[in-house]
Amino acid sequence: MGKSRVGLIGAGNVAQRHARVLSGFPDVVLAGVTDVLPEAAARLADTHGTRAFADADELLRSDLDAVYVCVPPFAHGPAEEAVLAAGLPLFVEKPLAADLETAEKTAAMVDGAPTAVGHHWRYLAVVERARDVLDGRPVRLVSGAWLDKVPPVAWWSRRDRSGGPVVEQAAHVLDLARLLVGEVTRVCALGDGSPPPGEGSDVDSATAATLRFASGAVGTLATACVLGWKHRAGLEIYADGLALAVGEDELLVREGEREYRLPGDPEAARVAVDRAFIDAVRREGDDIRAPYEEGLRTHRLACAIAQSAATGEACDV
Ligand SMILES: NC(=O)c1ccc[n+]([C@@H]2O[C@H](COP(=O)([O-])OP(=O)(O)OC[C@H]3O[C@@H](n4cnc5c(N)ncnc54)[C@H](O)[C@@H]3O)[C@@H](O)[C@H]2O)c1
Repeated sequence: MGKSRVGLIGAGNVAQRHARVLSGFPDVVLAGVTDVLPEAAARLADTHGTRAFADADELLRSDLDAVYVCVPPFAHGPAEEAVLAAGLPLFVEKPLAADLETAEKTAAMVDGAPTAVGHHWRYLAVVERARDVLDGRPVRLVSGAWLDKVPPVAWWSRRDRSGGPVVEQAAHVLDLARLLVGEVTRVCALGDGSPPPGEGSDVDSATAATLRFASGAVGTLATACVLGWKHRAGLEIYADGLALAVGEDELLVREGEREYRLPGDPEAARVAVDRAFIDAVRREGDDIRAPYEEGLRTHRLACAIAQSAATGEACDV
């Protein structure tokens, strides 16, 4: 089998990361990139010795085997529809959209070809270890947090552009909560109603949510974007006689007097998520851990929390 020809739609931060990882795979060739900013596409194409295309339609006519969609939340929809209509495997970055409707519409078009969502935390060895530690132990309490700065991208502080901090950032934590504790059935959230500085900024600076899991466990999610640094992003999980904290950087487990820590390796997980997708595209592997439908369940949860925070009403998921 020859090399797999991969195209990129969007040439910003996360596309640059995927391009770097993919160009390190011996069985992949970056076939081209497109961006609404032609100079961004040209820059990324130059870095990797590939072609910049004027738009997605032109890129999709270049004999591709798979496409990565790495656009900001508000720009999802048309790119995925074009990729799926062409019958091509689709890798899409989280969140799936700024809203729920766009993602539901895309999901209805998924038909057979592999799909994957950029929930690379699912490939962290510390997350696999946390799953093993929790195996069969009923979880009582979950405490999730994403406490950070305002990311340096212009669209982030606008609710209609990003979906807000819960949808845009805490998606990783919510996805992990679903993986480790199961589905959430009901949420109730409050936002502080006080946006961070910036023109047009209208997202909450802080959000606090309570969650009811189908298992009976209860949980909380806190987000804040008021710091100048990434302070904490992860989950604490409590079961009888067990406390566990897990995020990209570390797993901490305490059972009675026994306590241990394992370092996380986010870079390995970022490579693994791409490797698993390419293996599926090449029919050489079957380890996509968050296909579109699974990413959609996480997105539904994030959107329910955002909706509850916006309306002040509890919300079934
Ligand atoms: N999984 C992860 O760890 C991870 C890390 C970073 C970012 N992300 C996600 O990736 C997404 C993009 O983030 P980013 O930091 O790369 O943003 P960015 O603003 O740096 O890049 C987005 C690029 O998409 C382009 N674009 C916008 N609309 C487009 C369209 N319709 N067609 C083609 N290109 C278009 C923009 O011009 C820009 O170059 C966000 O949703 C973010 O949450 C995920």
